[in-house]
Amino acid sequence: MKAARQAADKAHCPYSNFHVGAAVRCTDGTVVTGSNVENASFGLTICAERVALFSCVAQGLQPLELAVSCVDAQSDASPGSRMPCGACRQVMQELMLQQATIHIDGVGSRRLSELLPDAFELGSAEKAP
Ligand code: THU
Repeated sequence: MKAARQAADKAHCPYSNFHVGAAVRCTDGTVVTGSNVENASFGLTICAERVALFSCVAQGLQPLELAVSCVDAQSDASPGSRMPCGACRQVMQELMLQQATIHIDGVGSRRLSELLPDAFELGSAEKAP
């Protein structure tokens, strides 16, 4: 979680000014971080969690657990302002085990299967081992 909070400092978020950091611990112990990267064409924005997870894949690493920190969430805001978005949950589903743990700053820890029950998958696709 410390690495996730630090990664939020690297966010490129001039439109929302909402800094998010993520850190993934991989099976070999490596910690890979990511931050949200926004774009003037808003739909091109990518979340911190996906930056970190895609980076794991690009480095040939297997994600084991993930921490995410929405450091700009208001202390009195609902827990929803700290939770991973639906798109990121679907990417976690593809790249992590169902029983993988997702640590959410200010909320707690969840199994991926709790965050995305009944997830979409293509039967023939290769998934996380
Ligand atoms: N954001 C993330 O990085 N992760 C999430 O799970 C939710 C949203 C980012 C995207 C955008 O840059 C900003 O937070 C506001 O939506």
